[in-house]
Amino acid sequence: MAVVTGSASGIGFATACRMAAEGASVAMVGRREPGIQSAAEEASSHGTARAYVADVTDAAAIDRALAGITDELGTPDILVNNAGVTIVGSITEITEEDWDRQFAVNLKSVYLVSRALWPGFRRLGRAAVVNMASVGSVWAIPNDAGYCATKAGVLMLTKCMAVDGAADGIRVNCVIPGYVETGMIRGYFDAQPDPDAARRQAIGLHPLGRLGTPDDIAAACVHLCSDDASWVTGTSFTVDGGVTAGLHADPPPDLPTRQSALGGTR
Ligand SMILES: NC(=O)c1ccc[n+]([C@@H]2O[C@H](COP(=O)([O-])OP(=O)(O)OC[C@H]3O[C@@H](n4cnc5c(N)ncnc54)[C@H](O)[C@@H]3O)[C@@H](O)[C@H]2O)c1
Repeated sequence: MAVVTGSASGIGFATACRMAAEGASVAMVGRREPGIQSAAEEASSHGTARAYVADVTDAAAIDRALAGITDELGTPDILVNNAGVTIVGSITEITEEDWDRQFAVNLKSVYLVSRALWPGFRRLGRAAVVNMASVGSVWAIPNDAGYCATKAGVLMLTKCMAVDGAADGIRVNCVIPGYVETGMIRGYFDAQPDPDAARRQAIGLHPLGRLGTPDDIAAACVHLCSDDASWVTGTSFTVDGGVTAGLHADPPPDLPTRQSALGGTR
């Protein structure tokens, strides 16, 4: 039985649908009642999916949701810590409040939700956890300092949880998505001075020539939670169209090439 946080939209929604289609009972956790309820109704066309309301930064709300989940669907043995926000800005641009909020939603929630489910994992003697990291875990994305810092934290927390959970049969991994077509990335583009240029530039950074889809990431989550990954823990699964592999040979037209920077032609 799987818990997927932040599953009213985007990657979380696609992951919940895919897990339900694979036969898992899925508890979809979201912040607001109408959004998560209608998402769960849609996901139910793939299998068993139910909505639970909790802000993942609120330990008491998580406990209340978990009580309902355990009552109705049983003890979870899969957790996808997917909920996240990005608040664009360099360190001189974002407020202290926004800094704290990003850390609470993106990093502290992984600790809070995992901590709540951990005793059940131990009782079962098995579990798979996937944390949603980002290329921002390993790369400094311009004007996204707080977000990148939180996602670097998720990468290390994944390793720590894996080491601590191994003796109890708890596997913990993370996924590192490139730029994926969701509301979050559209918000990021819209916050740039020229959103269309930002989008073209982002696409051009990916050697495979497109942004990711939520399903690209959902497939990786399902794999990491399956028995096919039974000897995989403490690692990161990069699903990024090649963006972090190295310098791309075909840069987008907006970027100066080495040649043009030297005064030659493109
Ligand atoms: N889209 C990308 O390019 C991209 C790239 C790398 C990593 N990610 C990560 O993937 C995850 C999913 O993002 P997405 O792109 O699907 O965007 P999204 O905005 O569609 O999904 C984020 C979800 O988290 C939920 N959420 C936010 N705060 C919450 C809270 N306090 N409690 C409960 N739920 C909360 C939102 O309601 C939303 O449903 C995030 O962790 C994000 O950082 C996204």
